[in-house]
This record gives sequence, C-alpha cells and structure tokens, in this order.
Amino acid sequence: MQEIGIIMNGVTGRMGTNQHLIRSILALREEGGVELPSGERVMPNPLLVGRNERKLRALSDEYGVDRWTADPNLESCLDGDDEIYFDSQVTPRRPDAVLKAIEAGKDVYCEKPLASDLDTAIEVARVAERSDVKHGIVQDKLWLPGLMKLGRLIDQGFFGEILSVRIEFGYWVFTGHGQPAQRPSWNYRAEDGGGIIDDMFSHWSYVLENLFGRVESVSCLGKTHIPRRVDEQGEEYEATADDAAYAIMELEGDIVAQLNSSWTVRVNRDDLLEVQVDGTKGSAVAGLRECKTQHHANTPKPVWNPDTPTEHDFTEDWETVPDNQEFENAFKQQWVKFIRHVVADEPFPWDFRAGAKGVQLTEASHQAWDEQRRVTVDDLQI
Ligand SMILES: NC(=O)c1ccc[n+]([C@@H]2O[C@H](COP(=O)([O-])OP(=O)(O)OC[C@H]3O[C@@H](n4cnc5c(N)ncnc54)[C@H](O)[C@@H]3O)[C@@H](O)[C@H]2O)c1
Repeated sequence: MQEIGIIMNGVTGRMGTNQHLIRSILALREEGGVELPSGERVMPNPLLVGRNERKLRALSDEYGVDRWTADPNLESCLDGDDEIYFDSQVTPRRPDAVLKAIEAGKDVYCEKPLASDLDTAIEVARVAERSDVKHGIVQDKLWLPGLMKLGRLIDQGFFGEILSVRIEFGYWVFTGHGQPAQRPSWNYRAEDGGGIIDDMFSHWSYVLENLFGRVESVSCLGKTHIPRRVDEQGEEYEATADDAAYAIMELEGDIVAQLNSSWTVRVNRDDLLEVQVDGTKGSAVAGLRECKTQHHANTPKPVWNPDTPTEHDFTEDWETVPDNQEFENAFKQQWVKFIRHVVADEPFPWDFRAGAKGVQLTEASHQAWDEQRRVTVDDLQI
C-alpha cells in the first residue's frame, strides 16, 4: 500500500497528541489508511517532532510510532522524503517553521492561527500561494456535529431570512491556585501568543463565513478578568492576555452576530459552545453535537408579567434535529480531506488564505478594542 510520510511538529502538545496524533493519524492507521477516490488506500506514516526527548520517547513507546526526532531546527526531517509538514507548535513558532517546510517543498498543514499577526500571516499565505506546495489550515469546528446540523438547516432554508446569531463559548478555567489549570499557561501571556481573542476569533472567522457570510465589521471589548494565575511549575505569574472577549460583528446579508468568549464563566447551558440562530421562519440552537429547532408555527407568544410565576416551560418548545448520519472526529475528517487533496488533488478550500482571514478578524478585533470603535473588515488582499 502507498504510504505518505507526515512530519508532525508540536506533537507532544495538547492538540498535537490528542486530536492530531491519536484521534486522527493513529485512528486512520487503525482503519487501514485513507481511502482515495480511486478506491486505493494510502497509509499515513508519522514522524514525531518536538523539543523534549523524554516526552517524544514516551509518546513513541506508548503508541508504537518508531520515527521521532528532537531536532530543533527541523533540518534532518525536512531533508527526508516525508511529503507533509504539520505544525501544532505554540503559535509564535509556526510561521518560521512553516516557511522552512515550504522552501523544502513539503505540502503544509497546520493548526490555527496561521501566525500571531496579520502581516506575517499574509506573508506566509503569499509564499504558499506562489509555491507549488499544497497548504491547509485546521478549521475543525466546521465538522462539529452540532454545526453540521445547523448547516443542514441553512441549506434547507429552515430559517427564512436569518436575522441574528449568538455565540456563547466558554467555561471556567481554574487559575492554578488550589487546583491545576486545565489549559497551558502560555494561553494567558500575550507575549507568548496567548489570549482568548487570538485563540478563538480565528475559529469564529471561518464558522461565521462558512455558515452565514463574510464578517464585514467588528466591535470588541477584551478583558483580563483574572490578573494572576499559577503555571505548570506551580509559580504564580501575571496574566497579560485577555481571558474574555465580548464582540458584535456585522455579517454579509445584514446579519448581526454577538459573541461571548470566556475562560472566566461557569456553564449554565447545554454545552461549552452554543450557537443560536434566529430567523423569520424559525430558530435553532446548536451545541457541539446536538441541535434543536423551533419553527415559526410552534413559537409561543409570551406576555411580560414578572408578578406571577412563569408557567410555561420554554425549553419544551424545541425539537431535536436527528443525527441522520454518523459523525466522525472533526480533526480526523479534515485530515482525510487534506491527504486526499495532497495525493488525489481533491479540492481543499481551507487553505492559508482562509487562515490569514482568521488572523485578520483577530487583529481587527484587537484594534476595535484598543481604539474603542467599530472596525471595518475589508476583503483580504494577499
Ligand atoms: N483547533 C483547535 O481547536 C485548537 C485548540 C487549542 C489550541 N489550538 C492551537 O494549537 C496550537 C498548540 O496549542 P496547544 O493547546 O496544543 O498547546 P500546548 O502548550 O499543549 O502545546 C504546544 C506545543 O508546542 C511546543 N512548544 C514549542 N515552543 C514552546 C514554548 N515556548 N512554550 C510551550 N510550548 C512550546 C510544545 O512542546 C508542544 O508540543 C496553538 O497554535 C493553538 O492555537 C487549536
């Protein structure tokens, strides 16, 4: 069977290990590889790359992956025959590594965001577009079952005219005082590429654009609600990055999106992410896996009266959208598409241009916050 070598840099990190190595590449190996349009299969063959030899050896032993290297400047692996370079390092280290891989002629696939600032993201996208290599950026949320069901409803015209979208994302991330934090400490240091705007707005960019339309403007307020946290070594540090962001975006088609993103909120909803869409003919609320709808015909007619207890249970007015298909891991699905893009030239629209758009929205949101105004998001020129 044909093999495809994949250099996986940053594979000892949270995303690298769990989503990309275990749930995607190793899962695909278990399934006998990726099926191509011709019916033939291609087997991904990972080369683990990281900075920490001990962690790499442990990963290699635990999962039976024999190829690994702790070569920090990537030369030895870029000189080899592996076809794809994948990057899930911390964001600031990504552009240089990706540019080196493009220069070495590797097809490149990487985690979001493409870079920590727009100029660099445009530069990386430009170099990729002018080269012969294929390029892709992780946009996993597009394959969340809840959002796929939402997409189905949109395609069927369920909403009539879509008026507004509300995104509630977040959960309580422990500060590290008393209980360890469940996210890495660099997420809370602006100087290391942290911050919830940098982390989440590149997701919101493609989620909004793919489901509803292009983001045309943004207003945003960021906050560092919790100024001191405790790191992986038990040391207290100053949190210099935003841990919550409150944004309003105007989308193509006169749709208004409101987005609350927070690592300092306790969950009182069905899921860590909820997307509510309201339209003239119906509404829907999607979580990570589920989606429920309320058609115009089933819409109750509430009357405001706080003097008497509410007898109506509003949650009962919603119907669950059935699965009607099997949903596979979102990261794995996108890996399959990228590998088919590389090997069989299938289309793959989630490229570095799309990645740069994510950074553009992130930067525009920072600008809106800094300058306390609504910022227009222009069509991106690469
Ligand atoms: N698609 C998603 O849903 C999603 C979710 C979380 C993170 N991410 C992205 O994935 C990337 C990695 O995030 P993560 O949460 O896995 O981070 P992590 O800290 O768990 O892993 C980071 C990786 O980069 C390496 N690294 C290199 N230089 C480093 C440094 N100076 N400090 C710390 N680590 C360093 C680490 O060894 C590790 O392999 C980020 O770019 C992030 O934006 C994507």
